[in-house]
Amino acid sequence: MVFLKNFFERLIVFKSYIKYHFNIVSLKTCSKNYKWDTVIYIVGIGPGSRDYVTEKAFDTVETSDFVLGSKRSLEIFEINGKRMELTLNLKNELYDFLKNYKNSNSKEKVSILSTGDPCFSGLLKTIFSFDFIDQNDFEVIPGISSIQMAAAKAKISWEDYNILTIHGKEENLKKLLDFVKNDEKVIFLPNNLKNDIKFLIENGISDEKEITVLENLSYSNERIITNKISNLVKNDYSYLLVCIIN
Ligand SMILES: C[S@@+](CC[C@H](N)C(=O)[O-])C[C@H]1O[C@@H](n2cnc3c(N)ncnc32)[C@H](O)[C@@H]1O
Repeated sequence: MVFLKNFFERLIVFKSYIKYHFNIVSLKTCSKNYKWDTVIYIVGIGPGSRDYVTEKAFDTVETSDFVLGSKRSLEIFEINGKRMELTLNLKNELYDFLKNYKNSNSKEKVSILSTGDPCFSGLLKTIFSFDFIDQNDFEVIPGISSIQMAAAKAKISWEDYNILTIHGKEENLKKLLDFVKNDEKVIFLPNNLKNDIKFLIENGISDEKEITVLENLSYSNERIITNKISNLVKNDYSYLLVCIIN
């Protein structure tokens, strides 16, 4: 009789242990899957060279089921999932992809590659502009911005500078002009450097004014020139440019 009592007591303890243990395990798996499966990552990949990509970015991209980015961004990574190369029509391509992704209730992990830092003149703003996208739909992995890289190369403290992008935002040319007229320091991403410089000259800025032009940062053809505006207009440049005016 005592033997039977002991046996049943032990059985109950064992059952509770199994029940508790499996509930915890399934809860853990569930919460892990929930976060892992549903989040889209907007990944900052730095100025271009692998040397400036964070460990976190590598890890996120290389464990993704789907990776979207420009040709030069995709080339940095070893992509194990599917890939989609974004073209100049990137806004529409991203819109269509994300709309389908949300509608299909997909559980695939998606990384969207954004050069530099996604939160500076990057894909964060583009993706937020989509009416069906909600703040909880994605996470942002920060990257080294071309602005930071330029400041490091020029050995300046960027908190002392006005930061501006004219890239696709020509309305900011007027702001640039005001900064230069007021002798304020500026770091800016040009839209079309020669045209931007012509605008400054046409609006009263001396062509003796010096600008530092930092081109193709982190790539093997990186070039950094400090010269007077009158000389800078004579050169040709790639589209990867950051400019500093002191
Ligand atoms: C759409 S904006 C993206 C900016 C990016 N989110 C960042 O934080 O650097 C693209 C512009 O960034 C600048 N840029 C990006 N990579 C660069 C690089 N490696 N060297 C110089 N400028 C770069 C150029 O002005 C380029 O036209």
